[in-house]
Amino acid sequence: MMRAYSSPYETCVEVCGNLERPGVALDIPMWIEHAHLDTTVDQLRIEDALSALQWQGKSFLHIGVGNSRFAERFAAEALLIDGITVCRSEVERATSLRIPNYTVYFLNKYGRKFLLTLTHRYDFVIDNNLASYACCKYHFYRMLDNYLWAMKPGARILTDQRGMDFSVDEKRWILSYEDLQALEKKFPVQVSRITDTVYAIANESAG
Ligand SMILES: C[S@@+](CC[C@H](N)C(=O)[O-])C[C@H]1O[C@@H](n2cnc3c(N)ncnc32)[C@H](O)[C@@H]1O
Repeated sequence: MMRAYSSPYETCVEVCGNLERPGVALDIPMWIEHAHLDTTVDQLRIEDALSALQWQGKSFLHIGVGNSRFAERFAAEALLIDGITVCRSEVERATSLRIPNYTVYFLNKYGRKFLLTLTHRYDFVIDNNLASYACCKYHFYRMLDNYLWAMKPGARILTDQRGMDFSVDEKRWILSYEDLQALEKKFPVQVSRITDTVYAIANESAG
């Protein structure tokens, strides 16, 4: 008999209470504005690891698009790339590039509008700051639930240890590979190493 799946966020009691604008640093440009900065080392490591996988013809969701060089590098051979950011100048930079299969939304990865805004389903979700902007466990779980909802069966989230070592606010959001593995007990995911520092979280649900 099939067991009904209820997402861990639904029963999570550790909630910040900020349901309209979850996450931290939303109004602090120093932390969220990378439109005109160099790509981070962790983002580049993910891109290099991705290059060694079968990525051509696939669809991508890029979380925190920064300078949009990810799209400049991969869009020509990707099926499509959607991106999200909480920084207006990153949306402006993305739009100014006029890459036909690249669309960037001003959208919060922890929020409910995520489900109302994105219409594609993705083979890869790229997020080099998986928990760096987390406000509470409820919204961290909700973000993962959002990602899994948007992913095709067997799709993967790619992240990197360097980004996981960085937390804007509370140190408890610095994550290890073992912390990711612990998510396997809560979510229908399978965690694996792609390189020494780049990790994959695969969607094991039937879709
Ligand atoms: C440190 S920058 C990294 C930019 C780019 N990925 C890189 O590594 O070069 C963090 C990115 O995450 C975005 N971000 C922060 N909080 C977010 C949230 N709650 N939802 C969506 N994006 C968020 C920021 O706007 C910014 O684009």
